[in-house]
Amino acid sequence: MTINVGVLTAGGDTPGLNAALRGLGKSAEYRYDLQLVGFYDGFRGLLQDRCILLDESALSGILTLGGTILGTSRDKPRKMIVGGKYQDMRDAMVETYNKHHLDVLVCMGGGGTQKNAFSLMEKGLNVLTLPKTIDNDIANTDVTLGFDTALGIATDAIDRLHSTAHSHHRIIIVEVMGHNAGWLALGAGVAGGADVILIPEIPFDPDKIAQAIMERSRSGKHFSIVAVSEGAMSIHDHKHENELKEEITLAENKKEKAKAKEALEAFYTGQSGKTMRLAQELESLTGLEARVTILGYVQRGGTPSARDRLLGSQLGGAAAALISEGVNGAMVAVKGQEMKPVPLKSVVNKLRTVPTDHIWVDTARRVGTCLGD
Ligand code: F6P
Repeated sequence: MTINVGVLTAGGDTPGLNAALRGLGKSAEYRYDLQLVGFYDGFRGLLQDRCILLDESALSGILTLGGTILGTSRDKPRKMIVGGKYQDMRDAMVETYNKHHLDVLVCMGGGGTQKNAFSLMEKGLNVLTLPKTIDNDIANTDVTLGFDTALGIATDAIDRLHSTAHSHHRIIIVEVMGHNAGWLALGAGVAGGADVILIPEIPFDPDKIAQAIMERSRSGKHFSIVAVSEGAMSIHDHKHENELKEEITLAENKKEKAKAKEALEAFYTGQSGKTMRLAQELESLTGLEARVTILGYVQRGGTPSARDRLLGSQLGGAAAALISEGVNGAMVAVKGQEMKPVPLKSVVNKLRTVPTDHIWVDTARRVGTCLGD
């Protein structure tokens, strides 16, 4: 009997998503008796029942395309802006699921999507998820789809910044995405030979960075590349953040809690522009000219790497196989050379950050890279 499968892509787009859709859809058609319907723009498309039949012709020619042919959004089923206010729209999504007689919904996304899929599972839907994000921060999988492409782009940018930093005898600070995990900055920093790498997991001391840069100057290297993760923080800011979090925990009533939460929000708002401020600080500490390059969305755009096309195809194919076996309530995780289902519950609300004793951290230190501590 044909199994009806719905699929959506949610959260920030990543290269390799189309390869995963194609892997799922083509395996569904060639190997298993599955019928695939794609919903547009993440959970919003599911709510509004905007969809397309993903047959062989719809999936043809998309393997090498970046982004997602389905479109995406950051909408949360439990808290979606509808009619100008936040509403729990899960029941309406269940209706769409039932209307299409779906047996399972495949959600491809990052940490937020895993959580959102789980919230639909709580409403009785069968869900299967795939891990995708350039941040590489999903728990219980070795790697996430899109990370390899972003790593290549960020590394290429660091390579290119070397020659201009060298020619102008400048410090160039390159801000890399990654949210609250340092995988991308650390990986690209090591691969691109950054002289300083700053990640959220290791709060930094600007004086230590300046010392490392001055040391390079004394040895005749009058330029430095600093790769900084967007979530990296100074020791001072990190301490302040913890104090503010503590105030929320210790608040004795609703009013105090709301005030403490507001203070933490204001702190995060104040964090924007911190890379520019770091550049100014390093200029005044070292006397060298500093410039900032924020890589931004180029890290998520364009053609997926060969590895991400391969991974997307494998994840999509594995999802089709698992669906045909009746597996759901799980995320298809990368475990060594294999794609294995892990309980979705073991993934939600868990951030996979860089362990400070990780081999990449050690590798950076071994080659003399300053990590700001
Ligand atoms: O999660 C992927 C990511 O690109 C993060 O690295 C970044 O912090 C965030 O998305 C940007 O979010 P948005 O696309 O909503 O601006």
